[in-house]
Amino acid sequence: MPDVAAERSIAVRTRALTRKFGAFTAVDSLDLEVHEGEIFGFLGANGAGKTTTIKILCGLLLPTSGTGTVAGFDILTQSEDIKRSIGYMSQKFSLYDDLSVRENLEFYAGLYGMGPGRLARRLDDLVPRLQLADHLDKVTASLPMGWKQRVAVAAATVHDPAIVFLDEPTGGVDPVSRRAFWGLIDGLARSGKTVFVTTHYMDEAEYCHRISVMNAGRIIALGSPADLKAQAGLATIQDLFLSLVRRDQPAGPGPHGGTSR
Ligand SMILES: Nc1ncnc2c1ncn2[C@@H]1O[C@H](COP(=O)(O)OP(=O)(O)OP(=O)(O)O)[C@@H](O)[C@H]1O
Ligand SMILES: [Mg+2]
Repeated sequence: MPDVAAERSIAVRTRALTRKFGAFTAVDSLDLEVHEGEIFGFLGANGAGKTTTIKILCGLLLPTSGTGTVAGFDILTQSEDIKRSIGYMSQKFSLYDDLSVRENLEFYAGLYGMGPGRLARRLDDLVPRLQLADHLDKVTASLPMGWKQRVAVAAATVHDPAIVFLDEPTGGVDPVSRRAFWGLIDGLARSGKTVFVTTHYMDEAEYCHRISVMNAGRIIALGSPADLKAQAGLATIQDLFLSLVRRDQPAGPGPHGGTSR
């Protein structure tokens, strides 16, 4: 019995997950467990392997080796079941600029095989939650970036998935919109959804229940923001991130010219 309960509470699990591109290892033997209802922050410098990992977890890319489950489905053999159970907002999310917000949501609902009745019921919940009512019939191109990102979240979650992968959802968005966006993420988690989110904004990492820091394909730290800061004796996730990544990297040119003294 306890095993069944423990198994149920895992939304994402990987074991020795590895992805190579030719001789280059982008994701290097990743072991991860993300719990249902958790906001899991996936941090790492450019090129660390975050998007590659997310693509594997979303069933869009196969690993070179290793195993994993998402929503209980095997990433190697059940990618279609995974795609039905998750929402994915890609780093370069795609909305049709010349369509209205409503038409974009209808398009994505169509991809998920949702009929008009189911979509209408879903919009009754989604539109007030994302405060999209005033924007539904506007052409998407006319919206500021912060609103486009809300629409992208609405599109990624129109089928009400249990797990949502958001790859840099707040890139290029002003601080007020970013703050509001994290209110939405919090709401998703409170309603029982699992949120797997990447960000380069270290203030956002503080809103996550747990974070992992990835560098050169490997996880170099994993835990709650409070625990990780306490263990390192550092005041902010920004300080922690910089110290971890510097420690993990061979000496190279830095802001002081690359010398160590
Ligand atoms: N299809 C591909 N072919 C070859 N190399 C790739 C491919 N996709 C990704 N890579 C390489 O794998 C590494 C990891 O890329 P990835 O996009 O996963 O990083 P990331 O952590 O998401 O970075 P960013 O923060 O810039 O989005 C990079 O060095 C990238 O150039
Ligand atoms: Mg990326």
